[in-house]
Parts: sequence; C-alpha cells; structure tokens
Amino acid sequence: MIGTLLKKPLEVVEANFRQPNGTAGQLVGHLMTLQHRSLTVWAIEHMEVRRSQRVLDVGCGGGMAVKLLSERTPQGFVAGVDYSMDMVSQAVRRNADAIARGRVEVRHGDSAELPYDDASFDHVSAIETFYFWPDPMRGLAEAHRVLRPGGQVAITLEMSREAADDHPSLIQRFFGRQFTERSERDGLHILSGAELTDMLAKAGFRNVRFVAEPRRSLGWVCALGQK
Ligand SMILES: C[S@@+](CC[C@H](N)C(=O)[O-])C[C@H]1O[C@@H](n2cnc3c(N)ncnc32)[C@H](O)[C@@H]1O
Repeated sequence: MIGTLLKKPLEVVEANFRQPNGTAGQLVGHLMTLQHRSLTVWAIEHMEVRRSQRVLDVGCGGGMAVKLLSERTPQGFVAGVDYSMDMVSQAVRRNADAIARGRVEVRHGDSAELPYDDASFDHVSAIETFYFWPDPMRGLAEAHRVLRPGGQVAITLEMSREAADDHPSLIQRFFGRQFTERSERDGLHILSGAELTDMLAKAGFRNVRFVAEPRRSLGWVCALGQK
C-alpha cells in the first residue's frame, strides 16, 4: 500500500533528477542541490584547481559546484552547462554576482555537444549526471576536446558499484540494493570505479584513477583523468 502510494512521487523525483522540468523540476532542483552539497565539496577536493584556472561543470543543475569552484578560482573563470532550461535559470540565480563580474557563465547545452571551443578549459567536472547521458563516451570525447593538453576531467557519482558490501551503511542496508536495481531497470548503468576509469582511458585520458567513499550514500566515486 505505502509502496504504491510512494510510487508516483518517486517516479516524478527520478524523472526530474534526469532532466528537471517545470514546477516539480524547480523544486527537485533545489532539493538535489542541497542533497549533493557534501558530494560536491568532496568532488572538488579531488580536483587540483588553481586560482587562475578555467573550469567547466557539465550537468551543473542548480549551480552549486559552479559557485564553489568560482570561490576557488578568484582569478579564473567557471562555466556551467545543463540541458534543462529550469536548471540553467536556477544556476544563473545562484551565481548572479559572479556572472555580473564576468567570472562565471551558465549556458544551455548538452554533454554530447559542449558549446565551447577546443582546449578552452583546465578542468571539466560532472557531478551526479554521468549516468543520465544517452551517450557517455560521446560526452567524454567532448570533455577531452574542450580540455587543454594536461587538463583534468573528474566524473563524480553518488551511486556506484563501490558501495560497501561487507559493512554497508544503514541506508545501503535498507534501500541500497532496491534503489540500484530500480535505477538499472530505468536504464541507468551503475558503474564501478574500474569501469569508469576504463571509459576514461578509452576516451584518450591518461593517468586515470578513482577514489571512493563506499559507505557514503550509495557508494560515492570520483574518477579522474588527464588529457
Ligand atoms: C541529478 S542532477 C545533478 C545536478 C548537479 N550536478 C548536482 O550535483 O546537484 C543531473 C543534472 O544533469 C543534467 N543533465 C543530464 N543529462 C545531461 C546531458 N546529456 N547534458 C547536459 N546536462 C545533463 C540534468 O538536467 C540535471 O540538472
């Protein structure tokens, strides 16, 4: 009974994680920005971002990573791209001051066709968005194209095959398997760190590696590579 009652709201939330749209999308956008804050801080810790560098965040959602990255790059530039217009407007509102100073911009665009020139960034990040991309290898090729030689890509996910098997957290014990299986039925490919780094290597990145926090959420993972 409770499962049936929850089904519809869950479907709405899931659809709006994939591509936030309309009033529900705006609301889910605010919630996911809050929910992903600690994941975002953790992801940025692994990116070796310097004060004067240029960073692109793909699938930027409500623009929290864009904001935190712009605080790290006071002499640099940060761009966000999202294919949801509702998220573009949320990210623009969150970063209005930095946009007015010309230090940040947010564009409507797709991971498969990034609206930027070749070799125009030092870092490309993608937080909790990679498994929604219809063609992830195309997205990685685009990240590679817009990075300058030596630039770094960082793909971060909160649900992965790195989730703790031996000592699962409470959330993982009660919801983990159910949620992962449901997501896979909906077409999401839940990856391990090694699968992610293999994909990065196939896209032409070198020095690929991953870090994981198996007990956080459904297995945080951040995969890194260099052009
Ligand atoms: C779960 S949200 C995460 C948003 C943000 N990175 C965060 O951590 O809060 C996924 C975001 O990726 C965007 N997205 C999904 N597929 C995309 C694609 N192919 N190109 C651009 N954006 C995409 C969605 O519109 C959504 O805003």
